[in-house]
Amino acid sequence: MIVAIDGPAGAGKSTVARAVAQALGFTYLDTGAMFRCVALAGPGRDPATLDIAFDGDAVLLDGRDVSVDIRTPEVAQEASRRATEPAVRAALLARQQALLAAGDWVAEGRDVGTVVAPDAGLKVFLTADPAERARRREVPVEEVVERDRRDEEREHAPLRRADDAVDVDTTGLTIDEVVERIASLAREHGAAR
Ligand code: C5P
Repeated sequence: MIVAIDGPAGAGKSTVARAVAQALGFTYLDTGAMFRCVALAGPGRDPATLDIAFDGDAVLLDGRDVSVDIRTPEVAQEASRRATEPAVRAALLARQQALLAAGDWVAEGRDVGTVVAPDAGLKVFLTADPAERARRREVPVEEVVERDRRDEEREHAPLRRADDAVDVDTTGLTIDEVVERIASLAREHGAAR
C-alpha cells in the first residue's frame, strides 16, 4: 500500500510522514530530498547519473552523507528551480516509481498523489497557513510564498491537490493529532496496523 502525502513547504510533511510510516510499519520516502540532492550536485551533473540513496534517516549522494547540507534555505530554493526541468523530473520519477513498486510506503512530496503514485491507496493533501509554515521553517513568509508559487505554476507536475485527496489542515494542530488522523485514515483504507 502507498500513502501519498503532498503539500506546500512547511506544512509538516516530513515530520508527519515519518511518524505515520512508523505507526503503520511502512517505509518512508522523502521525494523532496531527491530534488535537493540534484540542487546540491549542481547544474554540471546529469541528474540521471546521480547515486541518491537513503540509509535510515540519512540521505546519501554518491555515497556521501548530505543529510545536513541539503537542508539549507539556499538548497531549498535551488531545488524548486531545478524541479521545473523535465529532465530532472523524469530522472527522479523513474527512481521513485522503482522504489514504490514493491512494499508498503508513506511517500511525501508535491506530485506523489498526482504523478508518481496516482493509484495510491490513500492520498493526503497537507496544508497550513503561510505564516505558520514560515514560522516552522524559520524563514520569511515571502520565501515560502515564492517557493509555493514556483511549485504551483510550473508546467511539469505542479504542486496540485489530487481530486481524490483528503485535505488535512495542520494549522493549530499538534503533530500527534495530525499523525493519528492520517494513520486512522490509512487503516480505513486498508493498512493493517
Ligand atoms: O519537500 P522539500 O522542501 O524537501 O522539497 C524541495 C523542493 O523540491 C520543492 O520546493 C519542490 O520544488 C521540489 N519537489 C518537487 N516534487 C516533489 C518533491 C519536491 O518538485 N515530489
